[in-house]
Amino acid sequence: MTRTLSRFDGKIALVTGGTSGMGLATARRLLAEGAQVVITGRDQARLDAAVADLAGGDRVLAVRGDVGNLADLDALTEAIRERHGRLDLVFANAGIASFHPVEQVTEAEFDRVVDINFKGLFFTVQKTVPLLADHASVVINASWTLHRGMPGASLYAATKAAVHNLARTFAAELGHRGIRVNSVSPGYITTPMFHEVLQPHEHAAVAAKVVIGRLGTAEDVADVVAFLGSDEASYVNGQDLAIDGGLVATISGHSG
Ligand SMILES: NC(=O)c1ccc[n+]([C@@H]2O[C@H](COP(=O)([O-])OP(=O)(O)OC[C@H]3O[C@@H](n4cnc5c(N)ncnc54)[C@H](OP(=O)(O)O)[C@@H]3O)[C@@H](O)[C@H]2O)c1
Repeated sequence: MTRTLSRFDGKIALVTGGTSGMGLATARRLLAEGAQVVITGRDQARLDAAVADLAGGDRVLAVRGDVGNLADLDALTEAIRERHGRLDLVFANAGIASFHPVEQVTEAEFDRVVDINFKGLFFTVQKTVPLLADHASVVINASWTLHRGMPGASLYAATKAAVHNLARTFAAELGHRGIRVNSVSPGYITTPMFHEVLQPHEHAAVAAKVVIGRLGTAEDVADVVAFLGSDEASYVNGQDLAIDGGLVATISGHSG
């Protein structure tokens, strides 16, 4: 593994949903910069594959669990306490997609998405607070959809608006310990979730909405999470940072 920077030497990082997409890319980035990393996910086979892929040896701890299940979160924090005793960075990233017109959102789907994307994230942070070192950093994975109305996104986008709001309040509550809490709002990022939601024939039209003309990568997000988790961002707190090629801030196409 190539080590170019060492911003995370001696640091302990938790990445929920670390078996795929942005979580896996972030775990890889943090490892490359010296961190010891704890990754989670619901599927043991995917966890095993991620551990093999990361090739970090005993610098990677994989803990199976569902962020929507508080007993699993207790087991996760206990495993971290035993192995490391503390956390310096939490990337609360685990989440699921759900896009349906409002008339088609069932109560079961509402509960499923809120359980993972909002409740799961809330209690991930709550349960890790006792382990957070002073001056630790928490990064919450929200979504560009919290900033714009998009047909079909009512449930998903509302959970993301909620977790961005948590970033502000958690920042207010934890600031006295020097702990910073920010969220990121990825745009169209080509992860397995993206491919689950958008079919290949839709990709060009989606990319055309992005003024710089390309879709994002999981590594684009990992770079920013690593920045927010590092001392370089030591005065960035309670913010949401869009990682979207300008999707939220601009309108693509010619003027006039
Ligand atoms: N891709 C995009 O364009 C996009 C844009 C904006 C925001 N986001 C957000 O970015 C985050 C990461 O998404 P991604 O695109 O990287 O998706 P992904 O490739 O599908 O990865 C999601 C990860 O979360 C884990 N996960 C899902 N539900 C979980 C649960 N209940 N408990 C624990 N782990 C769980 C998955 O593993 P298991 O399934 O094995 O549990 C997997 O490791 C999500 O919060 C998503 O909403 C994505």
